[in-house]
Amino acid sequence: MSSRSRSSVVVEAKAGARKVALLGAAGGIGQPLALLLKMQPLIAELSLYDIANTVGVAADLSHCNTTVKVTGHTGQESLAAALEGADLVVIPAGVPRKPGMTRDDLFNINAGIVKTLAEAIAKHSPTAVIAIISNPVNSTVPITAEVLKKAGVYDPRKVLGVTTLDVVRANTFVAEAKGLAVQDVDVPVVGGHAGITILPLLSQTNPAVSFTEDEAAKLTDRIQNAGTEVVEAKAGAGSATLSMAYAAARFSESVLRGLEGEADVYEAAFVESKVTELPFFASKVRLGPNGVEEVLPLGKLTPFEEKGVADLIPVLKKNIDTGVEFANK
Ligand SMILES: NC(=O)c1ccc[n+]([C@@H]2O[C@H](COP(=O)([O-])OP(=O)(O)OC[C@H]3O[C@@H](n4cnc5c(N)ncnc54)[C@H](O)[C@@H]3O)[C@@H](O)[C@H]2O)c1
Repeated sequence: MSSRSRSSVVVEAKAGARKVALLGAAGGIGQPLALLLKMQPLIAELSLYDIANTVGVAADLSHCNTTVKVTGHTGQESLAAALEGADLVVIPAGVPRKPGMTRDDLFNINAGIVKTLAEAIAKHSPTAVIAIISNPVNSTVPITAEVLKKAGVYDPRKVLGVTTLDVVRANTFVAEAKGLAVQDVDVPVVGGHAGITILPLLSQTNPAVSFTEDEAAKLTDRIQNAGTEVVEAKAGAGSATLSMAYAAARFSESVLRGLEGEADVYEAAFVESKVTELPFFASKVRLGPNGVEEVLPLGKLTPFEEKGVADLIPVLKKNIDTGVEFANK
């Protein structure tokens, strides 16, 4: 195909109708995620917001000949324009981990950033689906929910913590361990998004695979600590950005397909939940025109997985309480 006919294919493609706002767009996750979203045909406008460097990223991206229109917004005073009319707001704003840090160590900085952004969303795009990447997700999701409740615009179907990277990692590691085609593997991951709160349900892997208890324990530990593997390999230069951008692009596409009314769209997400005694929990959800249409139950667990759930509940409860407390102080 000549380059001329190739470009005409792009121009002729049906343009999407959705506006997506990306907050933290100039960062390590933000930039590759912006690139992937620029290639997403369901999007009409991609609005990039950051406290610095957004104009350059927007100018650069805008030269790609895809139908998505890119706009750049820098600084607090341009946040309203970035958000207005958004169907989906994706938030990777905040600081990442350095070696030796847990996700909870990020709380002091990121909690304030997410709270401020949630207040702006409540005002300027209160009906948007919100996808929160900023860590600690176990606390930033409850913070966002509290802020929206206070503003009287909280819809639990529309506040989602992005845990897709845990599923992506679990799929990759299980496929490697079992010699399966990676694109065919689906491992449910439940709980939260930090340490032992990340619980892969290896027994529910599709296609069915079997592990000894020792193998399951080792693989679970690797999935729980996969983020730290990247933090250590990057040796001070940040945490997962490329795999996270990939995971968030997949998640965003699923949310948009749900909004478009497509049937049977499922992703894992950390959401308001009745699956356990906790007010928030990550599990598989069905996405639709209103965001989360259904939160799926845990299904049948092995004794090892049952213990995993019992062990993570007090840890996750503390993370959630910390978020709620922060939002209300
Ligand atoms: N959910 C997950 O699975 C997952 C995975 C990896 C990283 N993360 C988290 O994502 C976040 C971002 O990681 P990164 O590697 O892109 O970090 P980064 O430092 O490279 O980028 C963060 C960006 O946020 C911007 N920012 C800071 N304050 C802001 C504000 N008030 N408003 C808008 N933008 C602001 C910064 O200017 C920067 O461009 C971190 O909290 C990290 O822990 C989550």
